[in-house]
Amino acid sequence: MAHILIVDDERSICELLEIIFRKDGHRVETAVSGEAAKRRLETQVFDIIVSDINMRDMSGVELLRFSREVSTEAVFILITGVPTISTAIDAVNFGADRYVIKGDKLVDELRVAVQKISESIELKKETGILRRELRRLTGLDHIIGTSSKMRQIFELIETIAPQSSRVLITGESGTGKELVARAIHENSARSKKPFITINCGAFPETLLESELFGYVKGAFTGANENRRGLFSAADGGTLFMDEIGNMSLTMQVKLYRVLQEGKVRPVGSTEEDDVDVRVIAATNKDFEKEIAEGRFREDLYYRLSVIPIHLPPLRERREDIPLLARTFLERYRKEMSKDIEGIEPKALERLEAYEWPGNVRELENTIERAVALETGRRISVEGVPERIARYYQEKRDTPASSAKEMLIPEGGIDLEKQISDIERRYLLAALECAGGVRVRAADLLKMTYRSFRHYAKKHGV
Ligand SMILES: Nc1ncnc2c1ncn2[C@@H]1O[C@H](COP(=O)(O)OP(=O)(O)OP(=O)(O)O)[C@@H](O)[C@H]1O
Ligand SMILES: [Mg+2]
Repeated sequence: MAHILIVDDERSICELLEIIFRKDGHRVETAVSGEAAKRRLETQVFDIIVSDINMRDMSGVELLRFSREVSTEAVFILITGVPTISTAIDAVNFGADRYVIKGDKLVDELRVAVQKISESIELKKETGILRRELRRLTGLDHIIGTSSKMRQIFELIETIAPQSSRVLITGESGTGKELVARAIHENSARSKKPFITINCGAFPETLLESELFGYVKGAFTGANENRRGLFSAADGGTLFMDEIGNMSLTMQVKLYRVLQEGKVRPVGSTEEDDVDVRVIAATNKDFEKEIAEGRFREDLYYRLSVIPIHLPPLRERREDIPLLARTFLERYRKEMSKDIEGIEPKALERLEAYEWPGNVRELENTIERAVALETGRRISVEGVPERIARYYQEKRDTPASSAKEMLIPEGGIDLEKQISDIERRYLLAALECAGGVRVRAADLLKMTYRSFRHYAKKHGV
């Protein structure tokens, strides 16, 4: 039994195939446009996708390409009315698994194909796990995102990873800084050497020094033997210095010297060791402010930020939310062995509207919790935490004039009434600003006094 998505902008074909596959015992869903199909692929997991090639809003090949971006596992069958060599080539190039021609035999051919596929699904699932495991090693496919902002970051990572230049990653908490640091390491020539992480904010100054540079026996009480520091341990590899913004000024001077000279001196030692380490630093602080206020040395900042990467907060790339949510859903439903196959559109709408102060980490925790609590087949609105649902509600109730995005409530809105409402409130506000002087209020609203009078009369102001 397979979970099948049928995509065709001819509703009758969708319905026909739905009936037939249902009879054969499969779970079937349909989409009557490419966009509708994309939406489903973002939030649900399918075993088989059957798509028409010529649709009004999008070609089946484009949908195929998209489906390959969001999921590598689904089997994709393209159907076409007019077979041409070029579409066949496209289909193959973009990894369609089958190609079926519309005609008398369409239904039979599809049934046979689907039957065979669903028999091999178990097997495919297993190889899928292997393949993912393999891709995991490159690190990049860990970082989910199709927004243009994230695409730029992927490109940047790919370009700069092979070199050894230092990287400074900035971004709010939970935006994926550590993930990016790992991906850079995995895609560099150093990937076989260690990737070591240190949270610079977690250590008091003296401890951080011996942690980073090591110490020699007798350097301080308790130093009973020589110990290598993390710089030496990471030799040939990458040292990820997290929360670098919390480092004390004295340590900053010491770190500066190490970066400048490529040598570390263990605490209590008179000798220096050569080290070859790529430093990737990260912070969720605003460096300009830290420097301006004297908490961070400008010279060290320039040493560290040879290549700056800024990870945008999730609320600035909301289009990544469905795919991230779906990825986490897949992860946790497997982990918890739960038979959940998607997220209800209403629940997703709330997730998409939220501000996500804790960014991707918060979204991940939210989905994990929802998967754990869900008893049905899909994450429902009830699975959305109270704060997120409340935020959605408040945003929806905010007058359109101040809402960043326009959200239409379930019952629809009366646009004329809304606009009239806004007019009236701006009128009153302008009058207030102008101290009741109407000519001046008209000026503030960039209208003639005549128009102002007209509006004032209309609203009884
Ligand atoms: N683009 C992404 N795709 C998939 N998972 C992500 C993405 N961004 C972040 N995550 C996940 O979110 C969590 C937080 O990411 P990470 O630890 O890299 O954030 P961070 O920026 O280092 O946060 P902090 O500043 O709090 O240390 C991790 O579980 C990570 O796997
Ligand atoms: Mg981190």
